[in-house]
Amino acid sequence: MDRIRIRGGRPLNGAIRIGGAKNAALPLMAASLLTDETLALGNLPHVADIATMGELLVQLGVGVSMNGAGDGAPLANGGNEGRVLGLTAEALANRTAPYDLVRKMRASVLVLGPLLARAGRARVSLPGGCAIGPRPVDIHLRALEQLGAEIDLRDGYIEASAPNGLHGAQIAFPSVSVGATENLMMAASLAVGETTLTNAAREPEIQDLGKCLSAMGARIEGIGTDTIRVAGVARLRGAEHQVLPDRIETGTYAVAAAITGGDVELVETEMGLIEAVAEKLHDAGVEMTPTARGVRVRRAGNRVSGIDLVTEPYPGYPTDMQAQMMALMAIAEGASLITETIFENRFMHVPELSRMGANITVHGGSAMVRGVPVLTGAPVMATDLRASVSLLLAGLAARDETVVNRVYHLDRGYERVEEKLAACGADIERIRG
Ligand code: UD1
Repeated sequence: MDRIRIRGGRPLNGAIRIGGAKNAALPLMAASLLTDETLALGNLPHVADIATMGELLVQLGVGVSMNGAGDGAPLANGGNEGRVLGLTAEALANRTAPYDLVRKMRASVLVLGPLLARAGRARVSLPGGCAIGPRPVDIHLRALEQLGAEIDLRDGYIEASAPNGLHGAQIAFPSVSVGATENLMMAASLAVGETTLTNAAREPEIQDLGKCLSAMGARIEGIGTDTIRVAGVARLRGAEHQVLPDRIETGTYAVAAAITGGDVELVETEMGLIEAVAEKLHDAGVEMTPTARGVRVRRAGNRVSGIDLVTEPYPGYPTDMQAQMMALMAIAEGASLITETIFENRFMHVPELSRMGANITVHGGSAMVRGVPVLTGAPVMATDLRASVSLLLAGLAARDETVVNRVYHLDRGYERVEEKLAACGADIERIRG
């Protein structure tokens, strides 16, 4: 298993290119199941979760093609080699998402809605427990039942069928779920009649999916609000779509600049995607300014100040940026109260940050972080993507050497993280094996 070794204490300076959003690309890839024509997705990130979704789609019978094998370098024609994925679900060979893939990546459940809508049947492994809490899929299933799906849970699988097709319905989600909103938008696009989704998620990734579905011929209104109306159509067509920039990658590198006291321009991204994070960083004393290409992040001199935050559905502060901000608050002047409301058990980074000298106490869903002047390097590991990257960020600021183990968690969602940081002056390397 690969590890990453960091010798901390060097301010980052330079530019970092932000890739396409993993969490937008995953539902967009699943949307290819809705049509027999080709869906071409540009600005695709090269991360392990995308490869896993590709593998799942291939098993379902989707033809997959990539525009060359490059790593995303710009081409003379304005494209990026290796970043445009063509997905063609001409005929579906299979309707099962097997346990070994769903276990690796919970977002595999996003094929459920499209398969049901297009093929009338789907068999998707239940995701089971995961490192950040139980994460059930009950909201997805109840809503699909309201569209007329029959659902049984058997042998660890969701067995879903729509013997009479899917029919529009009024669906009020009991709580905000990104994945359930996406699954239902896709299923309702091919249902007979109109569906209304209330208490829908509003994340930029949902908006990106809505934009792509509209380009495929879906009739969707209210994208980006908590009430989405979908008028079903008989068929959808192929489309070309550029995946929006990854706001969590943007926020993560913003914290990297801040935690090292650096000056970094994040390019091919937008300030508007990370307003809630930018606001907190600004309160902490980090300078963030929009540029022609993206966002400049700078912290000169003084320590950041402690700030309080509560994770919430978009447009609130994102749970996927909670661990990274905690790493920054670990070296802030003063105390910070960080409250997690989206997931249970999303503080696995706390004991590891504590091993690096952070002073953090957890009470239920809140963590009290009392800033210390300096962290000390240590061998650390984490059990999920964002927790892992928070340890890496802490390592960038820490005295001496930090080794982050189990880098495969990072590789699920961050493309060439060590290369991007090294190019800005970090002393960081991947140790293979
Ligand atoms: C997506 C993101 C993930 C992010 C999360 C919240 C992707 C691929 N992943 O995950 O990175 O952290 O949004 O912003 O886009 N819940 C239920 N029953 C359900 C569905 C969800 O109880 O049927 C609960 C979850 O356990 C969780 C909360 O609702 O506590 C929010 O989950 P949800 O918004 O569905 O997250 P995901 O779509 O899985």
